[in-house]
Amino acid sequence: MGTDTNPGTNPGTDLGTNTGTDPGTDPIGSGTYAANAHGHEAAPWTLATAAVHAGREDLARQGLHAPPIDLSTTYPSYDSRGEAARIDAFAADGREPEGPPVYGRLGNPTVARFETALARLEGTESAVAFASGMAALSAVLLARAGTGLRHVVAVRPLYGCSDHLLTAGLLGSEVTWVDPAGIGAALRPDTGLVIVESPANPTLAEIDLRAVAHACGSVPLLVDNTFATPVLQRPAEAGARLVLHSATKYLGGHGDVMAGVVACDEEFAGRLRQVRFATGGVLHPLAGYLLLRGLATLPVRVRAASATAAELARRLGADPRVARVHYPRLGGAMVAFEVLGDPHRVIAGVRLITPAVSLGSVDTLIQHPASISHRIVDETDRRGAGVGDRLLRMSVGLEDVEDLWTDLDGALGASGALDHQFTSVTTRAPAPPGRTAAGRARASRAGGP
Ligand SMILES: Cc1ncc(COP(=O)(O)O)c(C=O)c1O
Repeated sequence: MGTDTNPGTNPGTDLGTNTGTDPGTDPIGSGTYAANAHGHEAAPWTLATAAVHAGREDLARQGLHAPPIDLSTTYPSYDSRGEAARIDAFAADGREPEGPPVYGRLGNPTVARFETALARLEGTESAVAFASGMAALSAVLLARAGTGLRHVVAVRPLYGCSDHLLTAGLLGSEVTWVDPAGIGAALRPDTGLVIVESPANPTLAEIDLRAVAHACGSVPLLVDNTFATPVLQRPAEAGARLVLHSATKYLGGHGDVMAGVVACDEEFAGRLRQVRFATGGVLHPLAGYLLLRGLATLPVRVRAASATAAELARRLGADPRVARVHYPRLGGAMVAFEVLGDPHRVIAGVRLITPAVSLGSVDTLIQHPASISHRIVDETDRRGAGVGDRLLRMSVGLEDVEDLWTDLDGALGASGALDHQFTSVTTRAPAPPGRTAAGRARASRAGGP
């Protein structure tokens, strides 16, 4: 899969060459149009322009510069027949009600601005925002299960909690795990969804999205695009029907918003809005505001952090204390690497870099997936997906590359020489037979992210 086929510059190094979008060019070109402030068709917007202006087109005409934050949970109306008609229309196809909103769970104008902007960046008709990435994934699973299509085909690795949600069947889905080449053969009449991440969390394995979309046939393909962002990859152009983000990460970009979003066609968006209305995983308007603000700098942040990440990946690949580096062909701000010494000592040894789970913030974060982000995944499944005990995952931020390297160099110096013993601390005791993966994970680490 993905990075493991990359030609390495060093033996044992998976440093991909960036054959993806040149960080200096915009993937959004002709074909993306926007009405300008005076209502007539404007020139095509590049990604950088869409990031700044999408979702804000009406502001200047209203005499506003910053988007208003609408905190209303309810919207007064003296016309209850009109409201009834709007609710009936929403129940029919999940379209945003025409006219004034009715209630916060049906939709919010500030959140809608973020949804409009993200749809523009991903090149889809619509987008639907949720309280977190996991709420977004849950809504997709519920939307499919609600039509009787409970079976999901998925490719590992996925983010640990996405893996857990599917494996444990918490929402009544049944999952078949396959390699990308096995997707077609795994489809069944009741398959409602195919799920992949590319680059994947945490190994940065990449998948040929066009080939996967082809293999899916009429079954909707969901691509988790959290790591690439629309700056580097637009899965809808490759045939994905659903593009999911943990907006908590790069879209927000500052580590202060939890959110999720699904970019898709309007028909699927309608079903997602109906699920959101019925189950309540709405995004708070303040979060919607912060996400819209985050989008404005997304291209600049991703390009700057990617350049630093590529340089750090190069230096790590040449470092004798590092066994292997994973860096996507696509580029991006995530780097994963396997150390020869004790990875826990690297985590304990950083001073500038923040030792924390999550990613996509302006500051650089590092974590040990086997202990944290993928702790909840059954150990055999985790190892089988390439998430070994020596793997560290780093989300590169906007600090100076030399300062980051100085910190990494010091932390690697503390990690010791080849250490065969540390796995005894990392490895969990075998679970008693008959217990589920979910139960094992809960027993070993309650509430892990
Ligand atoms: C790739 C990916 N998808 C989904 C999620 C879940 O998002 P959230 O934490 O916003 O619920 C995460 C979280 O780390 C992630 O990394």
